[in-house]
Amino acid sequence: MKMSLLTNKWYTKEKRIEQLESHVVKTRTAKFGFTSYAESEKIQRVNRHFNTIASRYDMMNTVLSFGIHYLWKQKAVGLMNIKPGDKVLDVCGGTGDMAGMSAAKAGKRGLSIVYDINWKMIGQGRKKKLKDVSFTQGDAECICFPDNSFDAVSIGFGIRNVTHLETGFREIFRVLKKGGTICCLEFSRPENLFFRHLYDIYSFRIMPVLGKLFTGSAEAYTAFPESIRAFPLPDELSRILKDIGFRKIQVKKLTNGIAVIHRARK
Ligand SMILES: C[S@@+](CC[C@H](N)C(=O)[O-])C[C@H]1O[C@@H](n2cnc3c(N)ncnc32)[C@H](O)[C@@H]1O
Repeated sequence: MKMSLLTNKWYTKEKRIEQLESHVVKTRTAKFGFTSYAESEKIQRVNRHFNTIASRYDMMNTVLSFGIHYLWKQKAVGLMNIKPGDKVLDVCGGTGDMAGMSAAKAGKRGLSIVYDINWKMIGQGRKKKLKDVSFTQGDAECICFPDNSFDAVSIGFGIRNVTHLETGFREIFRVLKKGGTICCLEFSRPENLFFRHLYDIYSFRIMPVLGKLFTGSAEAYTAFPESIRAFPLPDELSRILKDIGFRKIQVKKLTNGIAVIHRARK
């Protein structure tokens, strides 16, 4: 096995700090994957990424995760304890998987909204004709809904893409009703070292090849595993949520920590 296969690409704590808003604002740079962009450019870079892969996004998620992403999403939505009549927002909601699951719980009297900046992702979601789900285009950094509007807000595999991470969470805090629940589902670092090595090999050797094959872009599926390795670890994310004002923060690690749910209350 070549040494390069075993190179540790997970960022150290000092490097992970580069994802935080204070660093982005100070340096006027923001990372997407391991590449730095001007702070103002990241959003365009992220949009280009999702424009490239939107039509194959759902299929790629299923192929790359062997279908497990649906179980992770179901788990996260389940933890929001949505009741009939609740108003639920899915920030960075993409093609609407989580909003669809939330709508099934909120029912006809409730509200389930996908909120996403990318028109193509929204378009793909609309094609799915999800029952009782509506779509709004907008930026997670300035959510176009009034304060205290929602009983629950989910954000699945989205916060990594937001240029000013804390602003995204502050906006979620603002639109949540007092006592409302946030569920953030995000990728993270597997706990077991051997599994982590296998995951690294899979991420950097196989994912880009499958990305090229199915979407025509190896680059998109290189930036994707890179962005996971640069992202704050679960306890660091808990700290961010706490500093914003969230309480009762609970962390649930899934599939050896590949995915992590943060649930908290406003
Ligand atoms: C990896 S996808 C996740 C989609 C969906 N939540 C899921 O789990 O399948 C990330 C989504 O975040 C959206 N996004 C990225 N930056 C955003 C921003 N600043 N505001 C709103 N949406 C954003 C992208 O357009 C994309 O649809």
